[in-house]
Amino acid sequence: MEEVKLGILGMGTVASGLINIIEFNNSKLIENINKSLIISKVLVKNPDKKRNVNLDSGVYTSEAYEVINDRDVHIIVELIGGIHPAYEYIKAALNNKKHVVTANKALIATHGQELESLAVKNKVKLMYEASVAGGIPIINTISENLAANDFEQIIGIINGTTNYILTQMTDCGLEYDYAVKEAQRLGFAEADPSSDVEGDDAAYKISILATVAFGQRINIKDIPKEGITKISKEDIKYAKELGYNIKLLASAIKKNNEIELSVHPAFVPQDHPLSTVKNEFNAVFLRGNAVGELMFYGRGAGSLPTGSAVLGDIISIIKNCKIEEQSSNNSIKIVNKAYKPYYIRFEVIDKPGVLGKIANIFGENNISLASVVQRQKNGNDTAPLVFITHEVERKNIDAALEKIKNFKYVTNIASIIMVENFK
Ligand code: HSE
Repeated sequence: MEEVKLGILGMGTVASGLINIIEFNNSKLIENINKSLIISKVLVKNPDKKRNVNLDSGVYTSEAYEVINDRDVHIIVELIGGIHPAYEYIKAALNNKKHVVTANKALIATHGQELESLAVKNKVKLMYEASVAGGIPIINTISENLAANDFEQIIGIINGTTNYILTQMTDCGLEYDYAVKEAQRLGFAEADPSSDVEGDDAAYKISILATVAFGQRINIKDIPKEGITKISKEDIKYAKELGYNIKLLASAIKKNNEIELSVHPAFVPQDHPLSTVKNEFNAVFLRGNAVGELMFYGRGAGSLPTGSAVLGDIISIIKNCKIEEQSSNNSIKIVNKAYKPYYIRFEVIDKPGVLGKIANIFGENNISLASVVQRQKNGNDTAPLVFITHEVERKNIDAALEKIKNFKYVTNIASIIMVENFK
């Protein structure tokens, strides 16, 4: 039987998942592709270290170019992560006319276009299904199965760490710091969780999804992002009372000839399917002009789910090596209007006329109010005052708040959170 030889760069969680799936699903794989998959070289830091996978010790090397330049290797699987040296390794592999499969979101988000052109030039494939939402098959689904559609909305919960933290704050009443520690203890969050909690990880992923869906390379700098570090238990309580859950959403919305992208915490109505996505799970909700609404749900990280996505790409290359250049549609304008309803929470001195004065300033800035809630005074003589607005551009909110912040009875503008109305 014909053999397909894999060279794997990196031996972390995803690589061990991939190797384990190849072992335990081997007969099913052989039946599917009619070839046998051989792991012939694996780049590791220390070739002598004892590992938890069933591979011959002779496959390990600490020399990257021993894998990349091996004439017998057909497919390079890059699982090192980060931009350097993964970028140099992938370039060298493509120039060696080897197909490449990667799970590297940072690299694809920043150098994807150049690497895809290089793959086309060398008549090989570059595939990166595992770079977004781990086990959820979303990239190839958008680019192939849903290729008939013009996409109107892609809205995802595509960072499991932040979804875990927000779920624990919402369902178990945990404080933010404690929820982060729990996420670290369970292995969802890194020791330095900033890439997840500041929204960078989700921004990389939505830029990849939007590039695939809209055929236009998105610069990561065009994505305004806000993480979850400022979300308080107070906001979570108000969200619940008002019929929402707070989620970190990554969104790409196309209207007419404009695309708007962002990563931001949002109030999501409790009856929307995204609101029910809990803990470390991911989901991508999308609307295409032919298919209508779809939602994909699953594990966005982890050894076997991500290994499953990597192996899916490997199988796709083996079954179909047709090479097509991705066209780039640069006619769509990228905008940043954030035209949505907003939740705004103030701490105010509870005096006659305070609510009226704030409402006036909102009116002057063309902000229409959908609801107002005032609760009992806090111990320090201030009272929380919560507004939900109708749809308005974020710049109007910022202009109003600029004036309101100088108003002496407003002691704190505690939160401004977008309300996702899926329009
Ligand atoms: N850190 C990511 C998350 C997983 O929390 O979803 C890898 O992309």
